[in-house]
Amino acid sequence: MKFTIKTELITKIPADIIALAVNDKNQILIEKQIDALTLKYLNNILRLGDLNKRTGSSLLVHGANKYSRIILLRVGVHADLSPKEFFKGIVNVSNELKKINVTKIIFPINQFVNKLITVKATSEYLVRALVDNGYRINSLKTQNKSKATDFQVFLQTNKSSLKDTKQGLKNGQAIAKGVNLTKDLGNLPPNICTPTYLASEAKKLSREYKMKVTVLDQKQIEKLKMGSFLAVAKGSREAPKFIVLEHKRGPKNKKPIVLVGKGITFDAGGISIKPSPDMDEMKYDMGGAATVLGVMKTVGELNLSLNVIMVVPTCENLPDGKAVKPGDIVKSMSGQTIEVLNTDAEGRLILCDALTYSERFKPEVVIDVATLTGACVIALGHHISAVFTNYNPLADELTAAGETALDPVWHMPMSDEYQPQLNSNFADMANIGGRAAGSITAACFLSRFAKKYNWAHIDIAGTAWKSGKEKGSTGRPVSLLSEYLINRTVK
Ligand code: BES
Ligand code: MN
Ligand code: ZN
Repeated sequence: MKFTIKTELITKIPADIIALAVNDKNQILIEKQIDALTLKYLNNILRLGDLNKRTGSSLLVHGANKYSRIILLRVGVHADLSPKEFFKGIVNVSNELKKINVTKIIFPINQFVNKLITVKATSEYLVRALVDNGYRINSLKTQNKSKATDFQVFLQTNKSSLKDTKQGLKNGQAIAKGVNLTKDLGNLPPNICTPTYLASEAKKLSREYKMKVTVLDQKQIEKLKMGSFLAVAKGSREAPKFIVLEHKRGPKNKKPIVLVGKGITFDAGGISIKPSPDMDEMKYDMGGAATVLGVMKTVGELNLSLNVIMVVPTCENLPDGKAVKPGDIVKSMSGQTIEVLNTDAEGRLILCDALTYSERFKPEVVIDVATLTGACVIALGHHISAVFTNYNPLADELTAAGETALDPVWHMPMSDEYQPQLNSNFADMANIGGRAAGSITAACFLSRFAKKYNWAHIDIAGTAWKSGKEKGSTGRPVSLLSEYLINRTVK
């Protein structure tokens, strides 16, 4: 999809379709820019009532004088149009466009702008919605492969809004690229997307954006004494990797933001093996790693003047004669010992060592992202990710960024009362805390390795992918984290 900004009148832009906003009173918002004949034609159609009253509804009409097609989009009471409704509306428009052969479409930007949606936000949301909905899984189908939607988009704006439109387009495209990478990685089968494959993706990013990459192999990981991470990797013949990718474009003395991603490229549960139904979906257990790789792509595209470091521990979790067993006690890099009571609670076992490793960067903040617990899905479902923190202002910042990015998180509690659920008679802690508050005790476990810095943990178990007919990666929470980092740059 190609995006071009145009400042001329809509009548001067050659296109085969234009998107027009219609308010609750059946008025076309930019009617002044439309010729009389076309307007009369459209008003007749609107009078018939075929454009649904619900905000976000769209209607495709043909043969209106100047344009072979026009797509009408209901925006309701214009002043009340929310970012969420606008985004959804553009997705609806995009679904209509998929059914026809569009080559060039005009979106006049200013018809959507109100107190809740700035010019910049309008172009950013527009680009993100169109690319997101136009995504096609890079499948291994040999027949009936669906095509990615592809057409040229003209963002029509005026001179005074030009700068903001450009900025929004730039951010939107960079975020969309990051989201697409995350989706692609998630959707790959686990026999292709292995720890080694993730490492090669990090190397690719390092070449493309001149970032520093370090990939540690089994021997080097052993040297670091990451006994917890290595315990999980033991049951697999696929080599574990510990990946570090550094973007250092901020002031030299500025402490970095460290992003840690869970990179379990397949989670069978290990000896505590999972039931077979839907086990294939555990290829998405590297969603945290895919997210932070996607965010690094966005960071690279925008060349943000920030110091951002990505850390990804990655391996498989499989049953094997050599696999870690329930009852085994392992020693983490921090020196703390862990009784592994359930080998399926492996995410925290690889993340804890990555959190300890992150201390060396003297970080300003560390944010880890992980498909960590089924309990999180029970708590919040598939719409909102969970955020836990040892520093409340960080959760506030992430919550605000998530709201703007339309990629929401909910601040969950993590108070000390929950910690004793992790008590063990044999080691410093157990790796599970019982059925109650499963996503909280998982966060409590991680918090024991994040004492030296401000830290947040985002559990994306319910939001990283969709199941059923629409099975596929969502690319979340790349937009949230990109928004957070972009905000950090401005300050
Ligand atoms: N990767 C899973 C969490 C998960 C499950 C994410 C289902 C999305 C959907 C994680 O490694 C896991 O298995 N967690 C266990 C922890 C339990 C053994 C304490 C879980 O949630 O069941
Ligand atoms: Mn597991
Ligand atoms: Zn897992």
